Amino acid sequence: MLPHLIYGGDYNPEQWSPDVWREDAQLMQEAGVNLISLGVFAWAKIEPAPGQYDFTWLDQVMDLLYTHGVRVNLATPTTSPPPWLVRLHPEILPVTAEGVTLWHGSRRHYCPHSSAYREHAAGLVKQLAQHVRDHSALAMWHVDNEYTCHFGECFCDASVAAFRRWLEQRYGSLDALNEAWGTAFWSQHYSDWEEIMAPRRTPASINPTQHLDWQRFCSDSWLVCFEDQKTILRELTPDTPITTNFMGFHKALDYWTWAAREDIVSNDSYPDPSDPEWLIGAGMVCDLMRSLGKGQPWILMEQATAHVNWRQRNTTKRPGEMRLGSYQALARGANGVMFFQWRASQAGSEKFHSAMLPHAGTDSRVWREIKQLGTELGRLDALLASHVQSDVAILFDWENWWALEQEGKPSNDLRLLPQIVAFYAELFHRNITVDFAHPEADLTRYRLVIAPHLYLVSDRAAKNIERYVAQGGTLLMTFFSGIVDGNDHIRLGGYPAPFRDLLGLWIEEFAPYANAQTNGVETVDGQRFTCDVWSDVIHLTGAEMLAHYQADYFANSPAVTRYRFGEGVSYYLGTALAQDGLAWLLDQVCEKAKIHHAHHMPRGVEVTRRSDSAHTWLFVLNHSDEEVRIDLPAKGVDLLSDAAVQTSLHLEPKGVAIVQLAAT
Ligand code: GLA
Repeated sequence: MLPHLIYGGDYNPEQWSPDVWREDAQLMQEAGVNLISLGVFAWAKIEPAPGQYDFTWLDQVMDLLYTHGVRVNLATPTTSPPPWLVRLHPEILPVTAEGVTLWHGSRRHYCPHSSAYREHAAGLVKQLAQHVRDHSALAMWHVDNEYTCHFGECFCDASVAAFRRWLEQRYGSLDALNEAWGTAFWSQHYSDWEEIMAPRRTPASINPTQHLDWQRFCSDSWLVCFEDQKTILRELTPDTPITTNFMGFHKALDYWTWAAREDIVSNDSYPDPSDPEWLIGAGMVCDLMRSLGKGQPWILMEQATAHVNWRQRNTTKRPGEMRLGSYQALARGANGVMFFQWRASQAGSEKFHSAMLPHAGTDSRVWREIKQLGTELGRLDALLASHVQSDVAILFDWENWWALEQEGKPSNDLRLLPQIVAFYAELFHRNITVDFAHPEADLTRYRLVIAPHLYLVSDRAAKNIERYVAQGGTLLMTFFSGIVDGNDHIRLGGYPAPFRDLLGLWIEEFAPYANAQTNGVETVDGQRFTCDVWSDVIHLTGAEMLAHYQADYFANSPAVTRYRFGEGVSYYLGTALAQDGLAWLLDQVCEKAKIHHAHHMPRGVEVTRRSDSAHTWLFVLNHSDEEVRIDLPAKGVDLLSDAAVQTSLHLEPKGVAIVQLAAT
């Protein structure tokens, strides 16, 4: 898209006067900024009254930016409808499950099913695209902003009607819907589409399939809003790439479906600087983004330079941490680093949010760090065509996430992300890069596939996973997997029905633990680890036992197993192991799968690789406050310092090196 790595941020010139715009453009140039997200919240400025458009300010800003070498990632400003639209059409306002209307005065106050909203948004987008289509500054479209941030499920009457239409399309007949929803239970049989309701507040637990379909429907509805705009933009500006900014592991939207409709994946990431493990969670999000885009470069569209303003205590990134977070994104496949926002606001609810240009102006630590980063990124064009490779995939599916975390489970404390983080952290500490994969995706290129809590599994996914192992893959599956089909109906015949052959075992029952209850697991060679949350009561039908439970009525029965299936191997973990237990398990699974620790590093040193057809670059990020000396697999040149590096690299606290390795 640009011949350089992207560097910039959100710019809201409507909050400032034209003399400030001129200073902004000069300072952007000074900082090495080459892309700015413009107009994200500018609907009221562009269309101050119904059908009256004012583009003069936008033209001036785009001209000014272009003459300063800055291109524009132009937003469709549809995320915050102007007050006149609410006055004209109050029915656009969203309604909660309890029937409460959410009013304007902040943002995202619209229902995705409101025809008035969608018509006005489409009119605005059309006018905007027609107006700017030939402007040389236009580089990319940023559609809306963070779909479903703050609010994702509207329960108004228009939404209920849209849900019924969506269900008619999905099922074709009421008989099929009644079957899928299991409406024989609790007298829920439907005899007319008009009887069907959104899952508004009910006295007792809602039908789980109804709820699951509602989550599917909501994700699809917002996608329709995105597609409304994309169709207009594609027609008027066929060569301009289109994105919308994601929010990491965000539950409301099935980003697999969404990413397939975008030209480039982009993401907003706000790790909490007070969390000493922030780099793990942030790294995991980077890996998800790369995976959503099928390995293609993605853009870190927003991050904070220092602090946000929406936590209870908004701790700030320490010197060097913004730089580390930025390089982490590049190290994990991004080709762009951007911020919210360019200039810190003077008014409004985000006036205490950090920015590239803080209230203190250019005589500030943050500005100096921003300038340094901009200068460095300007020297890294060599990375543009490189990619990140991974031998390990963690299976991740939004439908499974939705179904797993509905109420009514054996343990309602079972949550998907903590399990994933536990595995991811172990791999992260070993500097093993991870992809995320949909359970129906081609898995053949991975040496190891981890399936944590794959509760809901389609027939296709089950076959795909079985084929992967049969053909030589290594699988590590954890408890409460393979339990229901796509309708959230139990797969009968002994858990986990679709994986019993593959795992060489079956599970008679689950034994969820009380809060704070633990048990012990002992390995065949006598090592002991704590476990909690849950135990599967497992019977072996071929698998070998690697560890057993120490206590309770299932004491001595298998907790961890291994089975040779076809050309491959499957491991099964029937409980939640403490971190040292997971480390033990992953050590042997990785050994078996021939995944060698990329690099033995001191804790806090993150290492990844990007390669193209000719070169490999080793990213070494020292998140720690200690100086470190690191052995490299070959000598090379550090792109950041231009210094030759021997096979031992010295890095200062919070230091970064990008070593282009010499061919060995
Ligand atoms: C999100 C939004 C931005 C801004 C930031 C603040 O990422 O997209 O408009 O509100 O949060 O952190």
